[in-house]
Amino acid sequence: MGDSIGLVILAAGKGTRMKIETPKALAKTAGKTLLDYVIDASLDFVKFHSLKAEIGLVIGHKKELLEEWIDQHPEKNKLKTAWQKEQNGTADALKACFNDLPHFWDFEYTMIACADTPMIQSSEFIKLFEELKSHPELVGVAATFETQNPKGYGRIIHGKKGFNIVEEKDASDEQRAIKEVNSGFYILKTSHVKDTLKSINNNNKSGEFYLTDLFQDKYPVKAIKFPSEIPFLGINTMEQLSQVTTLLRDRKVRQLMLDGVEFYNPQSIHIDHDVKIGLGAVIFPNVTLLGKTFIGEKVVIESGSFIKDSEVRSGAEILANSYLEGALVHEEATIGPMARLRPGADIGPEAKIGNFVEVKKSKLFKGVKVSHLSYVGDAEIGENSNIGCGFITCNYDGANKHKTKIGSNTFVGSDCQMIAPIEIGNDAFIAAGSTITKSVPDGGFGIARATQVVKEGAAKRFIKTKKS
Ligand code: UD1
Ligand code: CA
Repeated sequence: MGDSIGLVILAAGKGTRMKIETPKALAKTAGKTLLDYVIDASLDFVKFHSLKAEIGLVIGHKKELLEEWIDQHPEKNKLKTAWQKEQNGTADALKACFNDLPHFWDFEYTMIACADTPMIQSSEFIKLFEELKSHPELVGVAATFETQNPKGYGRIIHGKKGFNIVEEKDASDEQRAIKEVNSGFYILKTSHVKDTLKSINNNNKSGEFYLTDLFQDKYPVKAIKFPSEIPFLGINTMEQLSQVTTLLRDRKVRQLMLDGVEFYNPQSIHIDHDVKIGLGAVIFPNVTLLGKTFIGEKVVIESGSFIKDSEVRSGAEILANSYLEGALVHEEATIGPMARLRPGADIGPEAKIGNFVEVKKSKLFKGVKVSHLSYVGDAEIGENSNIGCGFITCNYDGANKHKTKIGSNTFVGSDCQMIAPIEIGNDAFIAAGSTITKSVPDGGFGIARATQVVKEGAAKRFIKTKKS
């Protein structure tokens, strides 16, 4: 095990400008909360350097919602919380962390990150840490960047030994013109934090305790200037949230293209951060891929398709305007155009689901065809059975759901209804237009429709003429 580090994430702020009910840290972009991105980047960094680490989340505004969220987090045992009762500034937030989590004093290093910066990745933390480690005389490093629009950021004033950070409100006009700004991400030796944190005061225009006072010209501290501001983009408004969603999409799509995925029009795609796509897949314009979706190799997804929390295995095709949620599509199956797969739809290899077909909580085995205008719910259909146009499983009696089971190599003619619960055997044949209420055994023939009557010349009795 390597060095030890306390990872403090500041998430107590109000985020007033977002105008949402949830705390800002829980706002979502590309399928994950802002906080998730910072936690994931921190944990990747810890893994990269094999650090002994814990995350200390400083929460305050709407803290109950954050606690609830943490309680459901897969890494919740690595997440400790500290409560900042009043939001008196970033240094006060760090104090709250050490108050509630005093063992954080025992970590050799302390990293401080904001919760509202979803573009951050482990590479930024790794660089900061390596700079600090390779200059043993330093007590702290801060990530900075140059920006054409420094408004709102703390400005970096380089000195003889270290540097100072002057907040916008407290800066002179001359200082405001400085373009190198503070990102709000730092790594420090915990001993330096211990020596200086308690002496930070709130004698400034905001009346807040500034964490930036840990960095002063009199201390051996270094500003590490990063080449781009993008990793540090903070979210304060809905507009910024949507801008970052686009940036995350671009980054994701660029990586997927490097991995051999083809996009006809990458700018038109919406893709969540955790979606995976295999080599040789082809994604048409205007496709939405959400949540925990896995797209296999050589899958083709045509325009307008919406796929959420679903798995589409290699070689399958999702034709235009199909809607999949919680579905599993096996190898080489074809879905759509305009098909709907609802949760629990499990479509076998080489099966075919055609236009205007809805499938819910049903397992269709290899080679099953349901090609047109059908509803398949709570059903199981065996290998190579063919379901004609306009088929309906009548699965719901108004109170309960019932199962329809159809064997393999069975033929169901067009316009049939299955009044569930019902079972049709293998190699059976159901005549078109049948409302099937009784089960049909293996090899059986089922027909349920009135016998046709033909009366020659009788049509005129039925043809009406309009009264004038
Ligand atoms: C801070 C920095 C500024 C830097 C900027 C980068 C200070 C004094 N200034 O300013 O130099 O350029 O970030 O974005 O630190 N928070 C709390 N409790 C509080 C106040 C804030 O937890 O009492 C949290 C917020 O939720 C947020 C983070 O700390 O995650 C930063 O707070 P914010 O108000 O955005 O700081 P800035 O004024 O932007
Ligand atoms: Ca900020």
